[in-house]
Amino acid sequence: MRAQLAAAGLLAATSATAAGPSSSAVPSGAMSLGDILGQAASHDNPLYKYPTQLTQGIMPKAFHSHNDYWRPLPFWSALAAGAVSVEADVWLYNDTLHVGHETSALTKERTFDALYVQPILEVLRRQNPESPFVTDGPTRNGVFDTVSGQTLYLWVDLKTDGAATWPYVVKALAPLRDAGYLTTYDGKTVKEAPVTVIGTGNTPLNLVQGVSPRDYFWDGPLPTLGGAFSNITKEVTPVASTAFTAQFGDVRGARGQLNDTQAALLKSQVETAHAKGIKVRYWDLPYWPIGTRNAVWRTLWDAKVDLLNVDDLQGCADFWETLG
Ligand SMILES: *[C@@H]1O[C@H](CO)[C@@H](O)[C@H](O)[C@H]1NC(C)=O
Ligand SMILES: *[C@@H]1O[C@H](CO)[C@@H](O)[C@H](O)[C@H]1NC(C)=O
Ligand SMILES: *[C@@H]1O[C@H](CO)[C@@H](O)[C@H](O)[C@H]1NC(C)=O
Repeated sequence: MRAQLAAAGLLAATSATAAGPSSSAVPSGAMSLGDILGQAASHDNPLYKYPTQLTQGIMPKAFHSHNDYWRPLPFWSALAAGAVSVEADVWLYNDTLHVGHETSALTKERTFDALYVQPILEVLRRQNPESPFVTDGPTRNGVFDTVSGQTLYLWVDLKTDGAATWPYVVKALAPLRDAGYLTTYDGKTVKEAPVTVIGTGNTPLNLVQGVSPRDYFWDGPLPTLGGAFSNITKEVTPVASTAFTAQFGDVRGARGQLNDTQAALLKSQVETAHAKGIKVRYWDLPYWPIGTRNAVWRTLWDAKVDLLNVDDLQGCADFWETLG
């Protein structure tokens, strides 16, 4: 082994004698390859660290992490799984946006700022370090180190009155806005940035559609993009959504398979949105039995649905590996 490493230039032929931390990329002679890999993983040697490695090795996946706050670490677990889309349910009480699925789940500490805005800002600061090597900066890398151009969709689901709550959301986004991390619309074009905010739930259309410049978007109704809501463009709605069950009924009896009528509806909804340059997401998917859930994910993926709604991040990460 030593001879092979030496031949490959990995061992210092003469000077290396003792194992241990070194500031050289040339490991000492007593180290095995296992030692070297261990050192790279555990030691503070600057040769094995780089500034933007927080999300090192995480491949972004077309997942929408739904009910994020049910997890012990909202946002962080979604990020770790590679979800490109996350959602926060927000409630306005006494001028503060609280995050939770229902009122009894709310606490003083679990705010939109603490659980989403600050963590996302922290990741983006790490992905965009000040560096003497960056001369055409500042950089605008996204949260994923592996695919820095991938935007993170941040859906804000308004649970309290829309007109009263939305201005607080816009205000709460200030730290991300001030750092230049939000996707913007200037009245003509959309300029994609590391975070794309989409208002949903009670978010009023007229506080988004007619407004410019702005750095937030609106969750358009997928089934009526060709009908009542044909005035919705991709500049208003980058991703449209609708409830799966409301469109296709209960598909558990058919083990998640769609019949011809349902398949035609799915195709037409996806095509209508895509023709407008709008991406597609279905929520309220069957989550059990697992075979049915996976069959639905597969059907949606094959139909070119852009974001898969996910309650079980690990389950979807496993499923992702099976996609060709
Ligand atoms: C809102 O403020 C009022 C008046 O200070 C207080 O009584 C109430 O408990 C507060 N509610 C919440 C949810 O913080
Ligand atoms: C677009 O269509 C929706 C649904 O009919 C309507 O509520 C909204 O006011 C329209 N927007 C504009 C700018 O006309
Ligand atoms: C497909 O399934 C739906 C919902 O169960 C049903 O209403 C419809 O009649 C079925 N269509 C065909 C062609 O089987």
